[in-house]
Amino acid sequence: MSQLYEMRKQSEMSDVLFDYNIFLIGFMGSGKSTVSLALHDKYAMEVVEMDQIIAKKNNMSISAIFETYGEAYFRNEETNLLADIQSKKNMIVSCGGGVPMRDVNVELMKKSGKIVFLKAKPETILERVKDSHDRPLLENHKNVEYIADLMEQRRPKYEAAADIVVETDGKSAYDICEEIIKKAKESDGK
Ligand code: S3P
Repeated sequence: MSQLYEMRKQSEMSDVLFDYNIFLIGFMGSGKSTVSLALHDKYAMEVVEMDQIIAKKNNMSISAIFETYGEAYFRNEETNLLADIQSKKNMIVSCGGGVPMRDVNVELMKKSGKIVFLKAKPETILERVKDSHDRPLLENHKNVEYIADLMEQRRPKYEAAADIVVETDGKSAYDICEEIIKKAKESDGK
């Protein structure tokens, strides 16, 4: 298959998928980035990785942004980025775990898309985050009790924001991505 044909095929496929954005929300380590990549691979949807864009714009890691400018600055960067995404469609947006905590962020996401909440058990989260050091809120707190407690505090906001909920424990990224597409189409009445 020629590269041009492949590109056209991918763009046709992604054109027909959704005329809105899909925002993936959920706790740190719930699989948002991995599932975004799977959606990109399978359906050629473009991915916006919020943390990555904010880190690049500020030319430093998320931990360094927290240390240098403080959390409030980072939270404003998230809101600014969501406002920029308003003009796009058919994108997968992998949100930082704290994004749905601000009501204005949820309003912005609802304006241009659907919100998919990826759920995972604290034990699964710990397994996924234990070797990473770019999550300032979990540094020195990598244990199930802490994660379960923070998750419980955040749960009402995640649930209230969600148009679609997907349990991720024990499922492959591709199974999760199929489930998202199926549920999104169902909610569109297709
Ligand atoms: C955060 C989650 C992180 C990152 C920052 C704060 C949070 O993103 O935005 O460390 O408040 O839950 P991931 O959910 O991608 O780890």
